[in-house]
Amino acid sequence: DATKEGYDHFMIKEINEQPRAIADTIKYKMHEGDIDFGENAFTKEEIEGFNKIYMVACGTAYNAGIVGAYAFEKFAKIPVITDIASEFRYNDPFIDKNSLIILPSQSGETADTLAALRLAREKGAKTLVLTNVVASSLDREADKTIYCYAGPEIAVASTKAYTTQIISLYMLALDFAKKLGTISEDEYKNILEEIKAIPEKVKEILNNIEDIKKYAQEIKDFESMFYLGRGLDYSSVIEGALKLKEVSYIHSEAFAAGELKHGTIALIEEGTPVVTVATQSNIIEKTISNVKEVISRGANIFAICTPDDHLEEISNYAYILPKTIDALYPVLAVIPQQLLAYYTSNAKGIDVDKPRNLAKSVTVE
Ligand code: G6P
Repeated sequence: DATKEGYDHFMIKEINEQPRAIADTIKYKMHEGDIDFGENAFTKEEIEGFNKIYMVACGTAYNAGIVGAYAFEKFAKIPVITDIASEFRYNDPFIDKNSLIILPSQSGETADTLAALRLAREKGAKTLVLTNVVASSLDREADKTIYCYAGPEIAVASTKAYTTQIISLYMLALDFAKKLGTISEDEYKNILEEIKAIPEKVKEILNNIEDIKKYAQEIKDFESMFYLGRGLDYSSVIEGALKLKEVSYIHSEAFAAGELKHGTIALIEEGTPVVTVATQSNIIEKTISNVKEVISRGANIFAICTPDDHLEEISNYAYILPKTIDALYPVLAVIPQQLLAYYTSNAKGIDVDKPRNLAKSVTVE
């Protein structure tokens, strides 16, 4: 199949396209060395008028939104509420002309996200769509649109849309922060430089897959597994667990590691696969102590971590990510999780590009 360009499946092709896709998403949001959203930028006055942001989407786009929400709070100091589109549309959300509703959607056609956009507009809120498809329904109806430039995504399980959505949201948050004066020039420049360095680091990860394949073999016959993280790492494992269940049919659940002892730990027994993402320096010690708790109950740990964590000393597998700033680790940490989902699906002989019961775009409620 020519369009797979030599890859066995679209999913692995799209995973491997991420360095290029992320580089493009950055490039098209820059002008003369700085972030510039052109006619889709909000002015300083408009941004000052927003007293809160709602981040509303479905599936993987929602998961990208919860990472993006962090950037708006951290850099632009605007409170963000994240909501699933099918909930938002029936929850009588408390929004008005001072609210900005950001709606990430790969296809731009998801029925619930479109209904959420229409409701937001009816209530007088401003809407901004983040999509991969030019002239999609969401694009046409939004006040403003930002494109991901991921290129066509064919595999049902979304990969490059997720990472390009996060990068787009971070760049938008930086643009807001600069206009609001909530970030120092040095910090702004530093984050932007780190963003520009991401494609090369993703490339590095894509060349390091042997342990991921081995772990996929070890977990393929399990019925259930767990993903643990705190803070941004929790957001990251939510996407990792979704990816795995979509294409491998293993029941995989993401938990905030601090909630372990409130229930989940009862399910850990000898050999239970547990993936943990541990990258956030402020809470790393806490995550490590949760990892120790599950290890002492027999968990088979795949830790996705930084060179400073020393998780290799206690884990069955430690996947060490290239260094970046804490805020950007979700973009790197998801890559081994995407690969784990892909190789587990392959090991089980599942049609990874077309998992049962799922559709690429859900255009009916
Ligand atoms: C479906 C797809 C997911 C996607 C979700 C939202 O469930 O299988 O991969 O994340 O819809 O789609 P959207 O096009 O709005 O991002």
